Amino acid sequence: MLYRKLRNQWLLMPIFIMLMFSGSILLKRNHQINVYYVKTTMSTTEAASFSLVPAKHVTKSLAELGKMDDINKYTLFLNKIPNCGAEVIIFLLQKMQGPNNYRHVRLKGGSTAMFTKIQQEEFVDELYSVMRDEAVPVSFDRQLYFINFTSFDKQSPTFINLIREPADKAISRSRYNNKQRDNDDLIQCVIQGKTNCNDKRVNPHDLTIPYFCGHDPKCFSNNQWAMQMAKINVEKYYPVVGVLEELNTTLEIFEHKVPYFFKGVQDLYKKNMIDKLNRNKGSQPQTKTRKHLKRILAKEYEFYNWVKRRLFKQLQMFYGDHISH
Ligand SMILES: *[C@@H]1O[C@H](CO)[C@@H](O)[C@H](O)[C@H]1NC(C)=O
Ligand SMILES: *[C@@H]1O[C@H](CO)[C@@H](O)[C@H](O)[C@H]1NC(C)=O
Repeated sequence: MLYRKLRNQWLLMPIFIMLMFSGSILLKRNHQINVYYVKTTMSTTEAASFSLVPAKHVTKSLAELGKMDDINKYTLFLNKIPNCGAEVIIFLLQKMQGPNNYRHVRLKGGSTAMFTKIQQEEFVDELYSVMRDEAVPVSFDRQLYFINFTSFDKQSPTFINLIREPADKAISRSRYNNKQRDNDDLIQCVIQGKTNCNDKRVNPHDLTIPYFCGHDPKCFSNNQWAMQMAKINVEKYYPVVGVLEELNTTLEIFEHKVPYFFKGVQDLYKKNMIDKLNRNKGSQPQTKTRKHLKRILAKEYEFYNWVKRRLFKQLQMFYGDHISH
């Protein structure tokens, strides 16, 4: 049955793609989200092994979060941050679309672009049109700074994300950026162990906080206001923000808080991923560099530690619930 469903979706795909492209040409927008549909990579044996999973049902976990009552629990948005390991979550989201009965859509065009108000509104509209076309629960991923859907009178998707230890992220990012070497980049300068870094500045697009703060120019200046705004948005629109260094806990809380999409994720991860991830240990840089990075990225560390505490608080509450019931 699952196989037939997948085949039907395949047959519809050219039509969807044609509609998407003709739509974007007709509208002549300067900013397009260029939707394309991810291939369902599940083999028939995998599909068979999932056939025992019960059909979808509405859970009340998200409704229990009183503060988050204005988020849409049938739409998930992973506004992924580069070099933080989001690919793991995307892989898992793709794998679970069959058993959990939703579609995962990768949105193209994910450069780190700051949108104007109008571009944000266009993005929101286009996302809504994809949601209407899909007519099933849908999850999205795209590199994107946070957008407050409420400010466009739209219900917000359920945002999730994954963050990473700031120095590790900076080091990974600097390796990645090495080709397009930026001589003004403070982080690059520090990691390369140079001494004359004082006149350089942090590239705001390498920071994590703007992904949670939004498109306001103030979000890009490594300041207290940006961090506060990021925290407010997390509290309001992100039932969970995961931490790469605590992936087991992260997946446990994903499964608990967003079961509609993540039911079974811990088993899936244990079966498929652990070996692949455990060899992914980069060499640790010298402590002097790390200390320097810690100073430069103080706000990033404050935010990272806050997210981590929130995650463990959620874990504690989860076990508290279980013991008391
Ligand atoms: C989102 O936008 C709405 C409407 O403009 C505003 O009331 C709300 O405070 C914003 N949310 C956050 C977390 O900034
Ligand atoms: C996560 O769980 C797996 C299996 O239970 C274990 O092998 C692994 O060490 C754990 N990883 C962390 C970081 O705790």
